[in-house]
Amino acid sequence: MANYDVIIIGGGPGGYVCAIRCAQLGLKVACVEGRGALGGTCLNVGCIPSKALLHASHSYHEAHTNFEKMGLMGGKPKVDLGKMMEYKQSVIDGNTSGIEFLFKKNKVDYIQGWGKITGKGEVSVGDDKHTAKNIVIATGSEPSSLKGVEVDEKVVVSSTGALALTKIPKSMVVIGAGVIGLEMGSVYARLGTQVTVVEYLDHITPGMDAELSKTLLRSLKKQGLKFILGAAVSGVKATKTKAKVSYKILKKDTEAELEADIVLLATGRNPFTDGLGLEEAGVEMEPRGQVKTKNWQTNVEGIYAIGDVITGPMLAHKAEEEGIAVAETIAGQAGHVNYAVIPGVIYTTPEVASVGLTEEALKEQGHSYKVGKFTFMGNARAKAVFAGEGFVKILADKDTDRILGCHLIGPYAGELIHEVCVAMEFGASAEDLARTCHAHPTFSEAMREAALACGDGAIHS
Ligand code: NAI
Repeated sequence: MANYDVIIIGGGPGGYVCAIRCAQLGLKVACVEGRGALGGTCLNVGCIPSKALLHASHSYHEAHTNFEKMGLMGGKPKVDLGKMMEYKQSVIDGNTSGIEFLFKKNKVDYIQGWGKITGKGEVSVGDDKHTAKNIVIATGSEPSSLKGVEVDEKVVVSSTGALALTKIPKSMVVIGAGVIGLEMGSVYARLGTQVTVVEYLDHITPGMDAELSKTLLRSLKKQGLKFILGAAVSGVKATKTKAKVSYKILKKDTEAELEADIVLLATGRNPFTDGLGLEEAGVEMEPRGQVKTKNWQTNVEGIYAIGDVITGPMLAHKAEEEGIAVAETIAGQAGHVNYAVIPGVIYTTPEVASVGLTEEALKEQGHSYKVGKFTFMGNARAKAVFAGEGFVKILADKDTDRILGCHLIGPYAGELIHEVCVAMEFGASAEDLARTCHAHPTFSEAMREAALACGDGAIHS
C-alpha cells in the first residue's frame, strides 16, 4: 500500500511518457503495467518490432534489387527468419529496458500487475491496494475481431502473431488494407511470400489523401502485392496448416474464396478497458467503447484517460502528447495538444506521411486552397539512391498562403514531414518554407520545392 499524487494504469507510450512528465513536474507517481514489460503494444508487439522487420526485409530487398547496380557483387543474402526474429526481440528488449532505466532515473514506481479502480482514488493490483489523488487510464487498444474469423495466432494471426511467424509463408491473405495490413504485408512480400490484400473499400488506406493512396497502391502492386478491393471478408476456415478465406465481391454481389498458408486479420483496433472497474467507478463511455473525456478528464473527478482508449487517431505519438498534457494539467499547468498537427506515417517503401487537412477535406469544407507539388524524380539525392518514386504535396490557403496540410510519398517521408509540422505550429506560410535555405543535396529539398511550387514555381521541375 502506497499513496501517490498520480497512478497511471498502462505503461505504453501514453502511460510511461505521462509518468515521466509527472515525475519531472515534482509529482509522486506510479505506473501499473501487467504485460511484464513496459512500452505497451507499440514497443512489444507493434510499431517497434514491425519497424525492425521492415528494416531487415527492406535491406534484403535492396541487396537483391539494387546492390549489383552499384557494383556491390557477391552472393545474394538468404533469410534466416529465426535470426531475424532474434534481432527483432533484441530491439524490443533494448527499448523496454530503456524505459525501466528512465523510470528509475526519474523515481517513477513501476508496479507490475493488472490495475483495477476499486474505490475513490484507489487502485488495486492483485492483493495490494494503492491510493492516488489522480488516476490516469492509459490502457491502449487490442486488435478488433471480425465475425466468422477466429484468430489462433498460428494460421490466422493478428499483428501480434504476424510479428512472430516461425517460417516464411508461401502465401498470405491480409484482411484490411490499413496501416498494419500494408506494413506487415510488405515485410512478407519482400521475403518472398505471395501476399493478397482483401479490402472492403474500393481504395486502400482509408482517410488518406486520395492521390497518395492511389500512388501507394500502384507502387505496392509493382512490388508484387495483389489487391482485391471492394470485397468484404465474411469468414475464414482454418486447418493446422492452411486457411480458406471467403469474401463477397461487393459490386457483383458474388462470393469467392482464397486459400493461403497464413491469414492476417488487420481490420482495426478497439479500445481496451476490460477489468478496469470503470463501470463500478461510474466512468462514462462513448458509444464505440472509448472512455468519454473532455480535455482528458472523465466525468469522474480525479480520473483521466489518454491514448488509444479515448477518441482520436490510434497513434503512439498522439498518446504521448496527451500523456504530457495530462501530467501538466494535473500539476496545475496548461496542458495542450494541437490535434490539427498530428502527423501520420506508413512505413512501407516508399514511405507515406501526412499532416493537416487533405484535399478531399478542404473541398468538403469549401476552403479555397492552392497545391504545390514536387516529384522526387527532380531530387538529385533521391535519384542517387534509387528512390525517385513519389512526390510531396503542400496545400496552402489560396489567399493567405498559410500551410493547411502536407502529404508525401517517397524516401524518408516519415522524417521529412516534421519540418511542415513545425511550420504549421508556427502558422507559417508556404513562402516561409520556400525561403528557408535547405542543404544540398538532401531529400528535404523536395519539401522546399513543393513550397516554391505554391508560389512562383519549383526550380527543378
Ligand atoms: P485500419 O483501420 O487502419 O484499417 C483496417 C482496414 O480494414 C480498413 O481499410 C477497413 O475498410 C478494412 N476492413 C474492415 N473490415 C473488413 C472486412 N470484413 N473485409 C475486408 N476489409 C475490411 O486498421 P489497422 O491497419 O488494423 O490498424 C489499427 C490501428 O493501428 C490504426 O488506427 C492505425 O493507425 C494504428 N497503427 C498505426 C501504425 C503507424 O502509425 N505506422 C502502424 C500500425 C498500426
